[in-house]
Amino acid sequence: MTATSLIDTLPAAWYREPEMFQKERRHIFARHWHLIGRAEQLAKPGDYVTGNVAGWSVFAVLDRDGGLRAFHNVCRHRAGPLFDDEGGHCQTLRCLYHGWMYGFDGSLRTAPGFPESGVLDKSKFGLFPVRVDTWRGLLFICLDPEAPPLDAWMGDIATLSHPYPSIPDFTFHSLTTYEGACDWKAYGDNSCEGYHLPFVHQGLNKAVASADIRAYKNGGFVGFDIGYNGDGDVRAGNGLWVYKFPAVLLHFSDRAINVEQVEALGSGRVRIQSYYWVPQGDEKFGDDYVADSRTVIAEDMGVCERVQKNLDAGLYTSGKLSEEKEPGTIFFQRLIREDLARPPVELGTPS
Ligand code: FES
Ligand SMILES: [Fe+2]
Repeated sequence: MTATSLIDTLPAAWYREPEMFQKERRHIFARHWHLIGRAEQLAKPGDYVTGNVAGWSVFAVLDRDGGLRAFHNVCRHRAGPLFDDEGGHCQTLRCLYHGWMYGFDGSLRTAPGFPESGVLDKSKFGLFPVRVDTWRGLLFICLDPEAPPLDAWMGDIATLSHPYPSIPDFTFHSLTTYEGACDWKAYGDNSCEGYHLPFVHQGLNKAVASADIRAYKNGGFVGFDIGYNGDGDVRAGNGLWVYKFPAVLLHFSDRAINVEQVEALGSGRVRIQSYYWVPQGDEKFGDDYVADSRTVIAEDMGVCERVQKNLDAGLYTSGKLSEEKEPGTIFFQRLIREDLARPPVELGTPS
């Protein structure tokens, strides 16, 4: 048996200080890809989906030629929104505040009340673009013009998940949203280890016979190779759980797929968007699978909120991590430190 060494956790103050969240926005969240919806939501020109990336409101839309476009959801006049819902279909991109209109390429077309020529140079007031792409039926955006392409960002997840069915093999069941009073890092710390399973998830723990947890450098993620023992109603065979840095969870199995985007809403506040795909025509299985996942997420959120209260209270300043039991959390926290040490992302210029 190898000796367990001790590694410092991130400081407790990082989980509660608004200044740290502001730093993370530009050093971490702006740098990575974020899941904002399902690719099938953009089926015809004018279909759009909105999303939130650590306070930046964004949307993706299908242009008239069927091309994917994405922009910050902020008008260049006085910062009004173009959309205030989760998605749908539009004929034009029009600001909800005073009606400035933009083309699907983001260029400013009309600004009611401003003289037609001479005063406002429309070419300088296009929407701020963001990058957009799809990966296996999932719709992602990225604020950093210099970030690697989505495929490269996913790294070894593509090959590791290859033995499992993909989203087109299933039917979409539902999207569930959870909000919690814990920092995104507390939720991430927890999601990257299986140490808590016997204590926090007694039902899930009975169904898991083995868990091989590894940190993967190519793609920056923690992979859990799971063997189920068949005791759970909705679990059997094998499974692959992935925590993709900074904040996407993917759960593959032979029977269903669950993908979660962890959204940092501020220091100590988080929202989970959890998408479920299940076998077509087996309603009971689908409902049971989703109910089981909701139980697990509620258990995780419950313990993370209690941890956050203790982090907020100010007695505990930092702790230790076990290389044997918490290699994924060690890796997650290392990636946070590495991104914070890099220069902040320069956001894109207008269309
Ligand atoms: S803020 Fe968009 S038109 Fe005024
Ligand atoms: Fe958990």
